[in-house]
Amino acid sequence: MNKLSIVGAGMVGEAAAQIIAREEFCRELMLIDVQGELAQGKALDVWQAAVESGSDTRVYGGSNAELLQDSDLVVITAGMPRKPGQSRQDVLSINLPILDSIMLDINRHAPAATVLVVSNPVDVLTYRAWCLSGLGRNRVFGQAGVLDTARMKCFIAEETGFSARDITALVLGGHGDSMVPLMRYCAVGSVPLSHFLSNQQIERIVERTRQGGGEILGLKKVGSACDAPGVAIAQMVDAIAKGRNRILPTVAILEGEYGRTGIAMGVPCVLAEDGVARVIELSLDAQEQAMFDRSADQVVRDIAEMNAL
Ligand code: 2OP
Repeated sequence: MNKLSIVGAGMVGEAAAQIIAREEFCRELMLIDVQGELAQGKALDVWQAAVESGSDTRVYGGSNAELLQDSDLVVITAGMPRKPGQSRQDVLSINLPILDSIMLDINRHAPAATVLVVSNPVDVLTYRAWCLSGLGRNRVFGQAGVLDTARMKCFIAEETGFSARDITALVLGGHGDSMVPLMRYCAVGSVPLSHFLSNQQIERIVERTRQGGGEILGLKKVGSACDAPGVAIAQMVDAIAKGRNRILPTVAILEGEYGRTGIAMGVPCVLAEDGVARVIELSLDAQEQAMFDRSADQVVRDIAEMNAL
């Protein structure tokens, strides 16, 4: 990839930038923030850290929207993180105008860029970004499920005592309390999780995953999670930059899959050079479909709330 821009040089943007630069996923990495000097300072720091890993990615920063020019991919992390006790939806009224103005900048300066939305509430803002972009759904999508899945893997590792290396997991649905961890697709060393854990233990893992972001926020108090979200962004960038055809949970625009249209939410997708190459529609059992529908209904309500603003 030639140029990647991250709009929002806060903690999440910086965490993602560090990995992207170190791993040399692009030739040029641009950090853009309303606080231009902060973005410039962070860019220098990230660049100088990356060279020590042998990376030639050049990192720049600033506040001018023109810096977006020629971006192949724009990652949007800008926005107000929620405060302890707030839901992701509570920051909608603050983050919606921010997202709208960033999309205006992208349309003006980098209309050909693929867009990865991370700012919360991510399902709603991904849908908005897609509506404003005029691009196909393959080119505008969001990050949530890679992070939620990483959290679930941690809790499975802790509960089973097995290495996290061998754990596979899958979380679908909206990035909120109604997210849908698909335990049928969770395994340790290819052995289904139900072989090792009771229903009660699994339920505990599911609940902790749903509250995973809030748990960190409640402890840190002054900011939400940043390191794991940074890694999650980097994984999606890696899939795109290297055209890997990876199957990753992605906030995607649905066009009839899972019985839904006019909505963005977490589903497994094939990520490749041009973004979402394919939405994978799993056949859910009745209980999973009911959980998915509950989550989708919540996102529909959230989108309606956004449209009313
Ligand atoms: C999280 O789950 C901030 O939404 C992000 O930590």
